[in-house]
Amino acid sequence: MIAERALTAVMRRLSRRYIAHEPTDMDMLPGPAHSKRYLLYAHVPFCERLCTYCSFNRFLYREDLARSYFLSLREEMRMVASLGYDFGALYVGGGTPTILLDELTQTIDLANELFDIGEVSAETSPNHLTPEVVERLGGRVQRMSVGVQSFDDRLLRVMDRYEKYGNGQSLFEAIAGAQGMFPSLNVDMIFNFPSQTERMLLADIDLLKQTGCNQTTFYPLMAGPNAARALADTVGRIDFTREGEYYGIIDEALSDAFEPASAWTFSKEKGGMIDEYIVDYDEYIGIGSGALSFVGGRVYGNTFSLQEYSEAILSGRMGLATAGQPYERRALMRYRFVTDLFGLRMDKRKFERDFGEPVERALRIETAFMRAAGGFDRDDDTEFTLTQTGRYLLVVMMREMLSGSNELRDEARAALSPEERMLLLDGIDASEPAAAPVVA
Ligand SMILES: C[S@@+](CC[C@H](N)C(=O)[O-])C[C@H]1O[C@@H](n2cnc3c(N)ncnc32)[C@H](O)[C@@H]1O
Ligand code: SF4
Repeated sequence: MIAERALTAVMRRLSRRYIAHEPTDMDMLPGPAHSKRYLLYAHVPFCERLCTYCSFNRFLYREDLARSYFLSLREEMRMVASLGYDFGALYVGGGTPTILLDELTQTIDLANELFDIGEVSAETSPNHLTPEVVERLGGRVQRMSVGVQSFDDRLLRVMDRYEKYGNGQSLFEAIAGAQGMFPSLNVDMIFNFPSQTERMLLADIDLLKQTGCNQTTFYPLMAGPNAARALADTVGRIDFTREGEYYGIIDEALSDAFEPASAWTFSKEKGGMIDEYIVDYDEYIGIGSGALSFVGGRVYGNTFSLQEYSEAILSGRMGLATAGQPYERRALMRYRFVTDLFGLRMDKRKFERDFGEPVERALRIETAFMRAAGGFDRDDDTEFTLTQTGRYLLVVMMREMLSGSNELRDEARAALSPEERMLLLDGIDASEPAAAPVVA
């Protein structure tokens, strides 16, 4: 699709420009603006096994490191509270937040003490969906998101998930067995993996529906340039030309049971909860190593080094390491356009109230592009909604925004100390004996 290729190029350029690149010596984030709604994101960067495709900030799990990390995370949360922030929701992402259950519950409890949190979301891996996890998190987490990626044993092996997280059958049983244990259970899947065929994709969708889960997110395989090269050398090149076709297959195959809840999330309940916090909140604060914040129209990044993070917190500073250029007015309008449409609907009157001009005039090229590509379904005086093509174009935009963050992560990882880089090595099981501690 020509529109997809044009959009990929534009989004790549834009996301590079605004992502937090410049080093900063700021000790603290700026304080809150009272008119804005904020979400708190807490990052837990430890996993028992490192999946081949994953570009998120994650290290191989070591209990000593993880315990000391959780202490720092809670300290940084207190710093954010002292700046005067309040949050309607907490999202604990990873890595694998459930890797140390007692630390996770203390962290959620502290957030509830400090802020008026209405809703907690957390991510987990299928091997953690145990009765103990469910019992401890049942009343604390409203929305649990579990990474399955695929039920296909061949793909799971290529992703290096088969040994640690289970084969297709055990994944199916884990998900089916966890139904009803959280108000919302989302299953993360990945599509357009190099060796994935249409048949594998259809089989995955079929099994997913049989698990009874009430929400699913289908991520297109994303990679910054380094990760894309590494994937090309191991599992093959990512073929973006078939991505739109696969999206169409997913959309149609899910349509008898699910409704789109965002461009890549499908839910059984209309308006079901979604994890895309950028849709529901004006801005967000990220705490933890490698977490990004978007505040006052600017992106800030915390250090990717566990050592530096721990040192910053011990000396009373937040973990800040980088800052992006402030979004100018036009970039803020574009950000609103993308985030609202990613959530499937844009309120034109609200846009005009907030920016002082109609969206069609303010973003002439963007709206004309979406119209020409057949992306809008409703396009009247009050709102834009999306066709399937429109939703796919939003997937492309979000894929490129997130791939831009992956690039930042690749660069940050290259700057880690040799000891910390050891924790990024694939193929080492965390249950193997640990080397000497890297962070005190
Ligand atoms: C960062 S993980 C954290 C949760 C948990 N560790 C897991 O594996 O599900 C959240 C989800 O991001 C998605 N993901 C990770 N790397 C990805 C990539 N390179 N492309 C597309 N999706 C990816 C996977 O679906 C994964 O489940
Ligand atoms: S379990 Fe795999 S996909 Fe999830 S964060 Fe860890 S490395 Fe990434």
